[in-house]
Amino acid sequence: MCKLTLFRCVVNDAQRKVKEAKPQKILVYKDYLQLDNKILNAQDRESGRDGDPPHHDEMFFIIVHQVYELWFKSNIHDLRSVMDSLKNVELVKLNRVNEKMTRMTSIMKICVDQLHTLETLNPAEFMGFRSYLFPASGFQSYQFRIFENTFGLKHKSRSEFGRQHYKQDHPSDILKQIDTSEEEKTFVDVLESWLAKVFREEPQSKVFWEKFEKGVKGTIEDIKSKNKSPEEEQKAVAIWQSVIKKELHDKKIIDGHRKMSFDAWRGALMITYLRNRQEKYAVAHNFLNLVRDADNLLMKWRYHHVQMVHRQIGDKAGTGGTTSGYSYLKSTVGDQYRVFKDLFDFHGFLLEPKHLPDYYDL
Ligand code: HEM
Repeated sequence: MCKLTLFRCVVNDAQRKVKEAKPQKILVYKDYLQLDNKILNAQDRESGRDGDPPHHDEMFFIIVHQVYELWFKSNIHDLRSVMDSLKNVELVKLNRVNEKMTRMTSIMKICVDQLHTLETLNPAEFMGFRSYLFPASGFQSYQFRIFENTFGLKHKSRSEFGRQHYKQDHPSDILKQIDTSEEEKTFVDVLESWLAKVFREEPQSKVFWEKFEKGVKGTIEDIKSKNKSPEEEQKAVAIWQSVIKKELHDKKIIDGHRKMSFDAWRGALMITYLRNRQEKYAVAHNFLNLVRDADNLLMKWRYHHVQMVHRQIGDKAGTGGTTSGYSYLKSTVGDQYRVFKDLFDFHGFLLEPKHLPDYYDL
């Protein structure tokens, strides 16, 4: 018997002994998903505890919230991974990042749509179990807070309407997680550094910027030839100059009109213009669009949620205690809750083709 065959016999014998000693458990669906011991056993209704029958619709109400929390978990997981990749990612390797961003935005679309299911809850039936829920509220969804913070919503941007602090009512271990999500670098920070790095390191940046600057100067000449009032002209010229002069851009950041650094802003502009020139910029442009989609979808969720709340409870106080849940929620759908505002704003500074005639040669 050759040495190799002998070795195989010994290994097979060892494997057989292990199998005999420990009968292998065959994994089945319900165990893999922990269905009967956890997931399907986690819908304890508050109604019906004092002898009355439990309210039929409360089961649905709990399940809808649980499904949301599972989607929030998946999105936090993907967002953190995207942020991690952006620390090093080269433009050409963005495809995997885009896959995760696409999954996140698909889930966010489901989260917006899923609010429709709550519109099947008759407000009169909701009253049948709502009183049991006090003082619990979606306001206390810590995963939602961790997602908002990690995405880049700053504490100072939060609505001050009502008496509540968004971190109240959490036990210390949860509070620690929320605090960490507030203190750590956010998606906005990571994206900003990445865009600035793209601008500093990509070989096409210098040529692109020279042409773009020339185009802005041409746009300014156009404005000056249009017989505007001196005030109007000055204002329009100053705005365009702030696109190409770092000190003016930085002043806009100090005044709160822009958030991204000058280089990040230039990186985003470059990606937008070069998207049709090279595959790597097309992928990067797709990525920026997915970031805009995510920002939009979070806004859409807020808007859809407040509409649904108004329909369910009018402008009553929320179970979490905001004096008027509807008015508080309305105050969260404004621009201060838009995290990537700059990625939308700079589209106001794209040039007319005549000012960037050799755009296709870039
Ligand atoms: C009938 C269904 C619902 C009603 C009537 C309702 C009502 C409210 C109200 C009134 C508030 C303001 C805070 C308060 O005083 O409680 C609130 C906040 C919130 N709700 Fe809902 N909600 C419902 C369903 C949901 C669902 C399914 C979710 C998904 C997780 C959710 C997530 C949230 C979040 C995250 C907040 C905090 C929003 C913020 O502070 O920006 N809600 N909800």
